[in-house]
Amino acid sequence: MTANIARHIAEARRCADALDETPLSELFEREPERMARLVVQAAGLTLDCSKQRLDSSALDALGRLAQAVNIGAARDAMLAGEPVNRTEKRAVLHTALRAGDGRLYATEIDTVLEHMGALVEDVRQGRRRGFGGAQFTDVVNIGIGGSHLGPALACDALRYDSDGKLRTHFLANVDGGEFDRITAHLNPASTLFIVASKSFSTVETRLNAQSARAWLAGQFPQAEAVADHFVAVSARPERAVEFGIAEANVFPMWDWVGGRYSLWSAIGLPIAFEVGMTAFRALLAGAAGMDEHFATAPLLSNMPVMLGLIGFWNSHCLGAESYAVVPYDDRLRLLPDYLQQLEMESNGKRVDLTNAVLDGHSAPVTWGGLGTNAQHAFFQLLHQGTRLVPVDFIVAMQHPANRRSHHDMLVANCLAQAEALMRGQSYTSSGLDEDGIDLARHRESPGNRPSNMLVMDALTPATLGALIALYEHKTFVQSVIWNINAFDQWGVELGKQLATTILDEITGSADQAAHDPSTSALVARYRAAR
Ligand code: F6P
Repeated sequence: MTANIARHIAEARRCADALDETPLSELFEREPERMARLVVQAAGLTLDCSKQRLDSSALDALGRLAQAVNIGAARDAMLAGEPVNRTEKRAVLHTALRAGDGRLYATEIDTVLEHMGALVEDVRQGRRRGFGGAQFTDVVNIGIGGSHLGPALACDALRYDSDGKLRTHFLANVDGGEFDRITAHLNPASTLFIVASKSFSTVETRLNAQSARAWLAGQFPQAEAVADHFVAVSARPERAVEFGIAEANVFPMWDWVGGRYSLWSAIGLPIAFEVGMTAFRALLAGAAGMDEHFATAPLLSNMPVMLGLIGFWNSHCLGAESYAVVPYDDRLRLLPDYLQQLEMESNGKRVDLTNAVLDGHSAPVTWGGLGTNAQHAFFQLLHQGTRLVPVDFIVAMQHPANRRSHHDMLVANCLAQAEALMRGQSYTSSGLDEDGIDLARHRESPGNRPSNMLVMDALTPATLGALIALYEHKTFVQSVIWNINAFDQWGVELGKQLATTILDEITGSADQAAHDPSTSALVARYRAAR
């Protein structure tokens, strides 16, 4: 970290010290322009950060930090296709997948979109059928991590946009129980599999794909059936062909799209099957709207920049170790899982781009759950626990379900929780009871607990696209502040290697390797048990 950036971070921390425990209610009174500065609109979304524990001096300090780390130049380099993934020497161009005219790689992207559209329409209209002639009713996406979480989130979120022609399912875990659960109610004759793997070497995906092929062979042992029932998405198409998938059914993706940023590519096929190509293109257009805003809006009215700076403020100036994402919308129930990969795989790093170990933290822990369920689970800790856990609330003003009373109550709870976290509540002590308990102390909530409120009129393909793009760019903004590479994931490799070694020992194809006594005992126990 340069001395200049360290100076700006120190300045932000001094603002936090100066504010100390100043109540948010006082900041609202003291700063009439608070709402104007801390409510940002973009691409159909409104971000209200006014319940964050910062004042205008702190905001200005964060703005200077954003200038010092040169977020604008880093953003422009990414959008221009420079190899900003410096440890892997790759460009990072998920934004090109959803951009308008004149984008990079337009020909390749358009060709794949057309290919996707043709397949989706053929399957949905029953022109393309299974080996035995049955119309497809179910699509199973076999993929994990970035080849699972984004499409699963979007299919669930856009369920009201689905005409129900095709049911999509997601087989990610290598746990055979998941395979059995998903296939239990499926008919091989009417099931289409998508093997989604950028590398086509992920062991979980390969084993699930092999099991799916064997499951299909139980009904159709003919080798040609695989061509009818399997398609693939991969940056290594030759591996998919080697697996037995017909070349015409292999959709390319590219090294310049990171796995966890890939739902906009053919990895999004399940979304297109679920809601149709028009809605899929609307999802891309919504994300492009956020990209345009990110590329052009001034830093302190730029929604992803604001979200990133505020996250940084909470973790690095106020000491929050985690933050919770709480959508008040059942359709977004998979958002916390999706954001866990996006933020923690991207920014869970300890070495910066000068090869130095960071002298502070990088990404906080991302977690969360659905409102109102979360209120009856972990909100107690948010209100009265000893840790500071900032919250991102997300809510839509309209809901397609014709259940007005439910939506009224859902929205009321969402707004009330944010207000309660901010206001807190005190009680007048009436002394100790017969057990020595001063109940007022136990009931008291300190308040002053920060939250963002993300609001949209309705959750549509376009606003969902904008929402996901918002968090992608927020993640990037924070990586620029920490000067880390958000686009590699070297840390997951060791576990994969050791799993291969242990699997070989378990299956007897290799002698037992030297492990620590704990691991050796566990391997021996499993070998004895199997
Ligand atoms: O967990 C590591 C990882 O490489 C993720 O980054 C990626 O999304 C996932 O595995 C799946 O990879 P692939 O699409 O190559 O199967």
